[in-house]
Amino acid sequence: MKLTKLKEIQAAETRLLLPTYARNPLLFERGKGVHIIDEQGERYLDLLSGIGVNALGYGNPVIEAAIAKQSRTLIHTSNLYFHAGQAALALRLTERAGMDRAFFCNSGTEAWECALKLARAHAGLLRSEGKQIGTKFLALEQSFHGRTFGAMATTYKAKYRDPFEPVMPGVEFVRFNDVADLRAKFSSEICAILVEAIQGEGGVNPATQEFLDEARRLASSTGALLIADEIQCGMGRTGKWCAYQHYGIHPDVTTLAKPLAGGLPMGATLCTEEVARAFHNGMHGSTFGGGPLACAVACAVIDEIEKEHLLANATAVGDYFKSQLSALAQRHEQIVDVRGMGLMLAAEVNSAELANRIVAEMLKRRILINCTSGTVLRFLPPYILKREHVDIAIAALDEILTECAASNGAPTAAYAAEG
Ligand SMILES: Cc1ncc(COP(=O)(O)O)c(C=O)c1O
Repeated sequence: MKLTKLKEIQAAETRLLLPTYARNPLLFERGKGVHIIDEQGERYLDLLSGIGVNALGYGNPVIEAAIAKQSRTLIHTSNLYFHAGQAALALRLTERAGMDRAFFCNSGTEAWECALKLARAHAGLLRSEGKQIGTKFLALEQSFHGRTFGAMATTYKAKYRDPFEPVMPGVEFVRFNDVADLRAKFSSEICAILVEAIQGEGGVNPATQEFLDEARRLASSTGALLIADEIQCGMGRTGKWCAYQHYGIHPDVTTLAKPLAGGLPMGATLCTEEVARAFHNGMHGSTFGGGPLACAVACAVIDEIEKEHLLANATAVGDYFKSQLSALAQRHEQIVDVRGMGLMLAAEVNSAELANRIVAEMLKRRILINCTSGTVLRFLPPYILKREHVDIAIAALDEILTECAASNGAPTAAYAAEG
């Protein structure tokens, strides 16, 4: 009967939905803490948390209370009027990110579109003030910024762009962490350099200090903007509110989304006062962006992260997780690299077949992880993760890698997801 429910839903989706997702055959119904529970009552240790969304885990009473309270008063009003939530949230975010102003929307890709529009408008403003600055963007190889047209054009992998050609022109890609390539491609034609301090979908690749320093220096030399996409690496995941804070650099614009509103759709674009000069009434907007419900929940999420010291937990448990992965790499030569910061971690293995097999075997052991960029096992667990959960995951990986070595890594079903 219960299996039929999954089968029925699968059959209905196959008929009714656009075929955009290769879903795993799991039907989730609820969750508690770090576990998500399927329709058969089976608990899964979720080391992916949506894709980096459920920072406080599942069934968090503070989030539930914030949703209940706000839903009893006001869920939506248009941006033609005031409500108390946007300024309260903007204050919290700008203080923590070291920015001056905020714009709210509903997703990561929208936050990124706003950032791109700010860059073009800011360059236009500078030109009107007599400066020489162009309209082109420098993005990075392996970048991922979203699925809408501007975001897609600044996203590196051809598979995301090619079917939709022609994409927005004026984007050039720099080799990741290649300072010489960055210098060679930068000119007064560039209105913004686009970075992720730690690339997410591209394979959990931390930028080098030297690269980000040079990006900051070059942008400042012409008035171009340095824009940091923190949609995956921000909001505390790496142990600081923003991953760029590990580098001591200050971008002109940053974007947030994923965990921002505790699982409700929300994005934010934050910028300096200098950049904010470029926008005026009517230049940008959103029907749902910054609605009372999402704002109230986002404020509650930030307060809860601080009250429960979850940045410190992300650092401590993340360091432990990374050290355990590194120890695993010593024992299993199939792991070729371990990288990341806080609770944004990866173990790269030596073949895509092996990576897919490990994800599938972890799923059999009721542990959710995913594979990105072919060979990279990605871990984006909730910030409430404890060492005991890490131990469970490491023991499972150890067992799987041992089995794979014995059977020479024969592949099973491939489960890949991006985001
Ligand atoms: C770094 C980064 N930017 C942008 C996006 C797009 O966000 P969304 O899927 O909410 O549009 C993602 C999504 O995975 C992301 O990881």
